Amino acid sequence: MALVAAGVARVVIAQTDPDPRVDGGGIRILQDAGIEVTTGVCTDEAALLQRGFTTRITQNRPMVTLKLASTLDGRIATASGESQWITGPAARAHVHAQRAAHDAVMVGAGTLRADDPQLTVRGMGDVPQPVRVVVSRRLDLPPTARMFHDRAAPVWLCHGAAAPAPLRDQFGDARLIECGQDGRNLDPSAVLHALGDAGLTRVYCEGGGALAASLLAAGLVDEIHLYLAGKIIGAEGTPSIAAMGLSKLAQAPQFALSAHRQIGADALQVWRPTA
Ligand SMILES: NC(=O)c1ccc[n+]([C@@H]2O[C@H](COP(=O)([O-])OP(=O)(O)OC[C@H]3O[C@@H](n4cnc5c(N)ncnc54)[C@H](OP(=O)(O)O)[C@@H]3O)[C@@H](O)[C@H]2O)c1
Repeated sequence: MALVAAGVARVVIAQTDPDPRVDGGGIRILQDAGIEVTTGVCTDEAALLQRGFTTRITQNRPMVTLKLASTLDGRIATASGESQWITGPAARAHVHAQRAAHDAVMVGAGTLRADDPQLTVRGMGDVPQPVRVVVSRRLDLPPTARMFHDRAAPVWLCHGAAAPAPLRDQFGDARLIECGQDGRNLDPSAVLHALGDAGLTRVYCEGGGALAASLLAAGLVDEIHLYLAGKIIGAEGTPSIAAMGLSKLAQAPQFALSAHRQIGADALQVWRPTA
């Protein structure tokens, strides 16, 4: 074994691999070779770094970071649909770095129809581009949207069985992934399981409000990145989270503040589920 040949006598491991196919096998191999193994060092830090992998192994889905860029009163667009830009350039640059730290960037069909976003990493040099995922029941999407033509990164379309065959052929090289439905919408859990099966471990969801509400209601958000801009739009603006059908506070998904900092003129808060 290379470690023995290199004279390694002691190895420090943060946590055992949660994959049942491994199940401490690596540790046993090291110990059998006479190497002393210490486990449980920096476990919390390692667990945070490994969350994508761990979530995929233990929950059969990628971890989900929900990005919200809102005004102080929790709005993501004006009544006329204008949303660019709520936050300033420094916060937007931070978002590009976060895209680069995930396997995929995901939006709902409403955001594609309203904003025609590219969802690429820009301004960071030559970095790998995350997959772009759009969630749409019937694939009622504009075939002229930029992401179907720029070839900057793969596009995956998660759709329902009701998507008509002629629509399925309109989106160039986009990969089509059929997912189960949950009432009127795609089942968010089915969408994430399909993305996990396709190999994704970390998904960065950039909205909009309907997809965010659906992921939150299903308990599928592992981290919220809330960029708060010092603007106020008022009740006629679009809320960052659409209706969730809650009637009792006890039903509300609960998050705890994990970190906060200033970015340019905006604030970034990181929230994690309490459970
Ligand atoms: N400030 C920001 O950071 C930001 C970010 C993103 C968006 N926005 C704004 O938000 C607005 C769009 O948000 P939106 O709420 O209308 O749309 P959305 O959440 O982007 O997309 C909703 C659509 O996604 C499809 N869908 C499929 N399965 C779903 C599920 N399980 N849950 C929810 N939707 C599902 C449905 O379309 P089908 O009928 O095709 O199935 C649904 O109408 C735009 O004005 C955009 O500018 C702002």
